[in-house]
Amino acid sequence: MALVILNGPSLKARTTLRLGGNAMAEVVVRDVRDCEELPATLERLGGRPLILGYGSNILADDAPLPLVVVTPAIGEAPRVVGEDAEGVLVRVGAGFRLPRLLGWLCARGLSGMEGLAGIPGTVGGAVAMNAGSYGCETGALVTRVTVFDPVHGVRTLRRDALHFAYRHFSVADAGERAGWTVVADAVFRLERSSRDVIHKTMQENYAKKKATQPVTAYSAGCVFKNPAHNVSAGKLLDSSGFKGKKRGGMAFSEMHANFLINTGEGTSVQAKELLSEAQEKVKKEYGYALELEVRIVP
Ligand code: EPU
Repeated sequence: MALVILNGPSLKARTTLRLGGNAMAEVVVRDVRDCEELPATLERLGGRPLILGYGSNILADDAPLPLVVVTPAIGEAPRVVGEDAEGVLVRVGAGFRLPRLLGWLCARGLSGMEGLAGIPGTVGGAVAMNAGSYGCETGALVTRVTVFDPVHGVRTLRRDALHFAYRHFSVADAGERAGWTVVADAVFRLERSSRDVIHKTMQENYAKKKATQPVTAYSAGCVFKNPAHNVSAGKLLDSSGFKGKKRGGMAFSEMHANFLINTGEGTSVQAKELLSEAQEKVKKEYGYALELEVRIVP
């Protein structure tokens, strides 16, 4: 296989917040071995890479973007690759969608990811930002990840060479020079359990999410990280009067104040103004400097 090069996609069409102009080009990676061609291809196309999964954690500027979208469409279906005393190992490609993986695991009675029900992204995106909810973090289940960076090439790394923290993933020895990392696939450790119990837990988690988060709106999930353990950015924003606060077509959700939603005709300028205003007010009222969870592009 070879890399597939396409015209610059609209980030508005490729992100769940539905904001953003066109990138310069898109490079689709279907096979991990093709990653080795990425640095030369990016140099030829002349833009910085934006590794894009499902686009569910991105706020892109409404302007031509000096970026080349790299899509790790490595959709290798999940398969059991081993079993030990601690659990069953399942390997899956980065381009595989997380909700599909959860369905696959449930059908096979493999437990561990139920808390991630309702997260829309790809497996690669979930690893790359250590997505989590309801006490379940992607990184906690990872035993191996295959990554590519321009300095070290393709490597399959064990857990002890990886660093996961709250909404953070990095390769321990990658260093500044590596610049960017593509997650190509991951191996997760799950436990055998009853299908019915897994199904019920997933349904309960999804129902809880639907009742407390605007799951069908155009959004990028929570926009700020929680500033401390057990301190909810959403609660701070709510108490500071941001629930439902609008600017043009952008608004903080009426359901959960840490979700910025695009009501249809919103712009990136309106989005960023609301974010800055919220950061200022929360700092002034509660002393917390809210850090972005959503990635601002470029
Ligand atoms: N709350 C409010 N007002 C709000 C939002 C929340 O009073 O507008 C209160 C809730 O009533 C609850 C507390 O704050 O008492 C915590 O709320 P929630 O359970 O929704 O949790 P959270 O800390 O606000 C985190 C994650 C979510 C994840 C949920 C469930 C972050 C930034 N957010 O939210 O993750 O789905 O827990 O586990 O870590 C995301 O990362 O994109 C995301 C949405």
